[in-house]
Amino acid sequence: MNDLSHLKGATALVTGANGFIGSHLIDQLLACGCEVHGLVRESSDLKWLDKSQITLHKVNLARQDFKVPALEDIDYIFHCAGLTKAKSRSDYFDVNATACSNLYEQSEKRAGRIKGIVHLSSLAATGPSLKGGRVDETTPCRPVTFYGQSKLAGEEIAKEFSDSLPITILRPPVVYGPREENFFTFVKLIHKGWGLQIGKAGKELSLIYVADLVQAMLVASKPANQEGCRYFVTDGQVYVWEQVANECARIMNVRLKTLKIPEGVLSFAALFFEVWASFSSKVALFDRQRMIDIQQSSWSASPDKFFEELRFEPQYDLSRGLAETIKWYQQQKWL
Ligand SMILES: NC(=O)c1ccc[n+]([C@@H]2O[C@H](COP(=O)([O-])OP(=O)(O)OC[C@H]3O[C@@H](n4cnc5c(N)ncnc54)[C@H](OP(=O)(O)O)[C@@H]3O)[C@@H](O)[C@H]2O)c1
Repeated sequence: MNDLSHLKGATALVTGANGFIGSHLIDQLLACGCEVHGLVRESSDLKWLDKSQITLHKVNLARQDFKVPALEDIDYIFHCAGLTKAKSRSDYFDVNATACSNLYEQSEKRAGRIKGIVHLSSLAATGPSLKGGRVDETTPCRPVTFYGQSKLAGEEIAKEFSDSLPITILRPPVVYGPREENFFTFVKLIHKGWGLQIGKAGKELSLIYVADLVQAMLVASKPANQEGCRYFVTDGQVYVWEQVANECARIMNVRLKTLKIPEGVLSFAALFFEVWASFSSKVALFDRQRMIDIQQSSWSASPDKFFEELRFEPQYDLSRGLAETIKWYQQQKWL
């Protein structure tokens, strides 16, 4: 187990506090004996947060003039807030990139006090891998979506501040676990007996269970020599989607039939949902940007550098992570 004693009695600010990853991170920061300040929006759903244990601040990071709360008391910052779905390229950039300038500019004024900053980026900032291969920290970045481009722009801003602030950038792949709703949609279909195959079979991916990602973030917050570094963090394996579906089916004791959807049909559906959403204030759950993600034959990364330099070992393989996730869905009566 990694030593997390640096967090005991420390004060942490978590942006995106109510989100899937932010809320799990807060649970662990509290367990480490941290005092936690959470940054949320006026409209944020706070159902995963124990409001009695944390101090919440309502701040919209899309506003150019936002003020970072409680900075004078903060030892560690975990920047988890991000837009994973948006209506336009500029919406992605406002939150995933521009907000970082403001956040780190204000943090810089307290540079003497801040001991660690973890900037949560994404594998999407680098872009897809070649089938059978894995990207690593030396791979040139070629993001293929607005989301990926905006996450890369956010990283570049973080990097600019890394001379004066102790920033470590983490790039997870797909994160799964309790409270997350996109992966749940996939599991729900399997629960009904359907394994989805979009386009060709055998599309590859890296994954990480949320508890391992949270642990990695806590380890990365430790003041160390690796400041300014970017790391991929995954569970160390590469999977194909069919393998993930079969493992879910095995855990839920379901016999799977494969539902094959040609990419052309889904592209048409993506366009339809996007046009439909343009008449409402809501973001389309599925759009042409999401389609670009799905069309790639591999989203795989090597976490070797992170494992070696920070002596990190994930605790959840796919079977254990999925079993925990499915058990939670069942307890919550989502399944
Ligand atoms: N989940 C994954 O598979 C995955 C993989 C790689 C990287 N990441 C990165 O991990 C981070 C967290 O993702 P997640 O899965 O936890 O997503 P999430 O559940 O959607 O959480 C995103 C958080 O960001 C907040 N946020 C969005 N726009 C904001 C704004 N204008 N002002 C203030 N807060 C804002 C959200 O608040 P509201 O609830 O009010 O919207 C929410 O708390 C993101 O940066 C994402 O890019 C996620």
